Amino acid sequence: MNTQMIKINPEEIDKNTLKEAAKILGEGGLVAFPTETVYGLGANALDEDAVKGIFVAKGRPSDNPLIVHIAEKDDVYKIAINVPQMAQKLIDAFSPGPLTVILKKQPFVSSIVTGGLDTVAIRIPAHPIARELIRLSGVPVAAPSANLSGKPSPTMAKHVIEDMNGRIDCIIDGGPCSVGLESTVVDMTGQCPVILRPGGVTLEDIKQIIPTALLDSHVLSSISSAEAPRSPGMKYKHYAPKAEVTVVEGEHTKVREKIRQLCSLAKADGKKVGVIVRYGEEASYPADCVLTAGYESTSYAASLFANLRKFDENGIEVVFAEFKSEAGMGVAVQNRLYKAANNRVIHV
Ligand code: TXA
Ligand code: MG
Repeated sequence: MNTQMIKINPEEIDKNTLKEAAKILGEGGLVAFPTETVYGLGANALDEDAVKGIFVAKGRPSDNPLIVHIAEKDDVYKIAINVPQMAQKLIDAFSPGPLTVILKKQPFVSSIVTGGLDTVAIRIPAHPIARELIRLSGVPVAAPSANLSGKPSPTMAKHVIEDMNGRIDCIIDGGPCSVGLESTVVDMTGQCPVILRPGGVTLEDIKQIIPTALLDSHVLSSISSAEAPRSPGMKYKHYAPKAEVTVVEGEHTKVREKIRQLCSLAKADGKKVGVIVRYGEEASYPADCVLTAGYESTSYAASLFANLRKFDENGIEVVFAEFKSEAGMGVAVQNRLYKAANNRVIHV
């Protein structure tokens, strides 16, 4: 398949160019597009064959449901039924934005989109290209992250090209994604909101609107296969770079010492070593590739997936990642980092 590349400036959207991509969606094609979280791989959510194409292009298990993206808040009621008042409140507070709500689905929403569930995930992205594309296409857009299943989500068009060139109809390059981690998924079908996947809208943000909101117990721990997770996506191994990642967690000075030791041991073992540091001390580690995450959790989030892909590009075999657990956006970073590390965490 020949993949068409389109470049669009998000600050000055060329509608005529974007219309070409919207037309491809309307005709049952697959279009990758930027959102403020990560790049999405979109298909017309009302076209079952198009949606099936997403699962094929990604190599995604068919029981892992997709998020339906819409442009306007009122469209929630076209996709979902029994929308509780607390869901409306959250949507009013945080949409458009990095929030996905799980609601009971309208009967017409295909079980191919929902992985056989009677609920549907809905999100209104804030990215101007994403919103305009959905508007121009005139349909709800089913879209997972635009990576091959199991790879880190794409935060730049070049990541999408790496994974999807030749597999989909069109890739829109709209520059890097600002949040860098996927949206916060909140189950709104129970008594209180439950965060199934942490993201750019934090637990603290949500509690300001609905104080009873909770974090699902699986978010910061591994799941055994015997348990049935509330979100099918939780049970799959995610964000796995080729390298073996170990998180080293604790106070900065101790973490730095530990990582230096671990680097030396791995180097002595003949391994190609990578490190994620929080501050600009790249030169002080005996490693082959040292990448900076930055001081703030938001910058850790924005750089994490791109850094994991950079290690792969450089043939890095083991990675040590500096981390310190924090509230807010730190929870989302911890969730993705622990998954990338397959829960290999050293506390110092
Ligand atoms: O930021 C994002 O959410 C990006 C952009 C493109 O919008 N999309 C994204 O989609 O991350 P995906 O498919 O990679 O992740 C969707 C997650 C999966 O973990 C899936 O299991 C969960 O949402 N999910 C979808 N529908 C669900 C449902 N009805 N009930 C529970 N979990 C659901
Ligand atoms: Mg994904």
